[in-house]
This record gives sequence, C-alpha cells and structure tokens, in this order.
Amino acid sequence: MHHFDYVNGEMYCEQVPVRRIADAVGTPFYLYSHATLKRHFLAVRDAFPETDKLVCYSAKANTSFALLKLFADLGGGLDIVSGGELYRGLKAGFAPQHIVYSGVGKRPDEINAALETGILQFNVESLQELETVNRCAGQLNKNAPVAIRVNPDVDPHTHPYISTGMKKNKFGISAAEALAAYRHAAQLAHVEVVGIDCHIGSQITEVGPFKDALASLMELIGRLQQDGIAIRNLDIGGGLGITYGRETPPAPGEYAAAIMAAVADSGLRLILEPGRVIVGNAGVLVSRVLYRKRTPEKQFVITDAGMNDLLRPSLYHAYHEIKPVVVDQRPLIVADVVGPICESSDFLATERELPDFSPGELLAVMSAGAYGFAMSSNYCSRVRAAEVMVKGGDFGVIRRRETYADLTALEQLPDFMA
Ligand code: LLP
Repeated sequence: MHHFDYVNGEMYCEQVPVRRIADAVGTPFYLYSHATLKRHFLAVRDAFPETDKLVCYSAKANTSFALLKLFADLGGGLDIVSGGELYRGLKAGFAPQHIVYSGVGKRPDEINAALETGILQFNVESLQELETVNRCAGQLNKNAPVAIRVNPDVDPHTHPYISTGMKKNKFGISAAEALAAYRHAAQLAHVEVVGIDCHIGSQITEVGPFKDALASLMELIGRLQQDGIAIRNLDIGGGLGITYGRETPPAPGEYAAAIMAAVADSGLRLILEPGRVIVGNAGVLVSRVLYRKRTPEKQFVITDAGMNDLLRPSLYHAYHEIKPVVVDQRPLIVADVVGPICESSDFLATERELPDFSPGELLAVMSAGAYGFAMSSNYCSRVRAAEVMVKGGDFGVIRRRETYADLTALEQLPDFMA
C-alpha cells in the first residue's frame, strides 16, 4: 500500500500533484511519500507486538538523510555495511546502541570507528575478520560485541545476484563451521559473543526460506547453549520482498508469524534488518519523455532518466511498473523505455505495453524507493537526480540535483601535470 494515486486522471503523491513538483524541481527526480515510509516502518515493527525486538532499517536500500532521520525519529535502529553508513546514521540521530554492522569486507579503520562509537553488534563474516575485530578492540582497550553471520545454505528463490545464504555465496560462515568459530570467539580476549545473525537474500516472496534459515540457526543456538555460549540477540537479517508487478509476497504479519513460530519463547532479542519492504514502494522516479523513435523492429520511448539513475532494470532485469503522470484514453503501444546513455543495457523497461507517450510528457517509474537513488551514479557525466519528499500537502527537496560544478569538484591535477 502506498500513497501514489490518481485524482481526476492525475497522479498525486499524498495531496500533491506530481506534475506540480516536476514543474518546480525539473526532471528526473526521486519522489518519496512520508506517509508511506512511516506506515511501512510501523507495519514491520508492529507485526512483532509482544516481542523484545529492534527494527534496524537496512541503510543500503536508501541512505538519504531525510529517510534515515525519519526512521531514527521513529525509534528505529540501523543496519550498516560501511563506515560511510555509520557516519550518516549517527548524523541522522540513530543511537549507537541501535546499530548493527554487517558485510564481508570491513576495514580496520571502519571497525575502529564502530568500536569507538559503541555499536550494538558486529555481524562477523569470517575467521580472519573475527581476528581483526579482536585486534582492533584490544588496541582500543574495548570489548567488541560480536555475532557470527551464519550461512545456512538455503535457496531464497530470488535473483542470483541478491541470493546471499547459499554455500556458493561469499557471505557468512557455514552452519557446519559456525560452532568452531563461536568456540574460538569465546576464547578471544577482546570479543564478547552477544548474538547470531543471518541474511539469506533480498526480494524473497515466500516464508519457506526464512523458516528454513531460522531452523538452522535455532539448532545452532541449542548447541551453543550446551557449550556454555549464551546468545542474547537473534538477527534474522532483511529480505522480505515487495510487489513490483505480479509478486505476492507475504504481508509483514505472515512473515512475523512464521518467525515467531520458530523463536517463540527462546527469550532472545529479535533484530530485523528490513530495507526494501519499508522504502521500495514509498518512492518513484519521475522522468520526462524526450523523444519517440520507431525502427523497423521496435518502438522506443526515450526518457531523461537512464541506467545511471535507476540501475535495477539493467543489472537484474528488474521489472518496474511505468505509469503516466496524467492518464487519458489514448491507445496503448508496446515499446522499450530507454535512457540517454550510450549502451543498449540502458533501459527502464523492455517490450512494455504503455500509453502512446508524446515528447514532454511525464512518467513515473514505480517502486523505485529501494536501491534506486542509492545505486545511482554519474556515468556519462550525468548529474544525479534530485530527491523530493512529500508530506501531506507539502513537498520539499531533500537532495538537490547535482550541478556540473559538483561533477568536477573532487578532481585535481598533480603538480607534474599542472
Ligand atoms: N541485511 C543485509 C546484511 C543485507 O545484505 C541486506 C541487503 C539487507 C539486510 C536488506 O535486505 P532487503 O530487506 O532490502 O531485501 N541492489 C539489490 C538488492 C541488494 C540487497 C543487498 N543486501 C536490488 O536492487 O534488488
């Protein structure tokens, strides 16, 4: 459920006509609904009513400051994978004790920053990383709170690029090796074992894989208890899918029921790392049609947004619905929606049934709130799009469109070239 609806044939975001925002800020731009963001965050949180839990929004899905601030103000935690996300998260007001840190390649300087801040938990993904965390903590005279990310070898039935809990993936430590890793961690002088973690993938549209992963973790927790290693936090990662087209993912309540059936009276504190399910359908990418082109093979709708703005269709062949900002009774065509970039992978949609758009018209690429702006780039020296937030009848730019001066701001010539 989101807040991008038509009123008299015109798309609104909450109470603001999208066309009005386009006239004010230009195109392309990302547009977020404050009400949808809030609603989705609370839907996930409140799906686990009686449980000791922390919803750590997964920053990577959309790291824009205004969104982070909204979730911090709602009492949320944060799942980070870099020093940059830690920096942004603290700036947005997340309590350090609400931050968990995942990722296979944490650098010592990033680990040090997280230790100095005093985060809730490092989700450690290898034995070498465990040693590094221990060494960093020793040098800072601290104890590092650690969970081991377990790779339960579960197929999440999603795109291979976003499957992370199968044994061929780089993530985590296998369930078979995790016990030894925990025993080792328990011996280390500057590590405190506090939790267990897994994240099996993203855009998962059934509960089965979550249940299977959790069963593997619960078994391991039992064996750790026998060894006298006590776990406080059970971090089940993110991954709950959304509807882009025809998917029918479980609602947060169904997801929560499946999780709770497995962890019910374990006394563990549940940590969740949802990203897409909170922000995905709370954002759209608004673009203007520049040209129409017809070849003997195909029709093209050429837009002012390209793969540098929204990479998902090019990278994963991801489907995003494309809607006109103003609807009328015109005939439908079948066309590719493509951007201005000089590669044939630069498309937002292929072979899509669409209104017969004319140059100058606006369209909305739906469900672009997650992994949209966050994965955008300056490829082809295109300035990154503006981002806009709507709340009720108000809208405001939360990130201005980049300028050409921004494009070269970080560059310099070494002396020998000056
Ligand atoms: N926790 C960890 C450790 C993760 O790696 C991820 C996502 C999440 C949580 C959040 O997962 P979510 O709830 O959003 O599914 N760029 C891809 C998605 C990559 C996901 C990476 N990890 C896409 O556009 O589909």
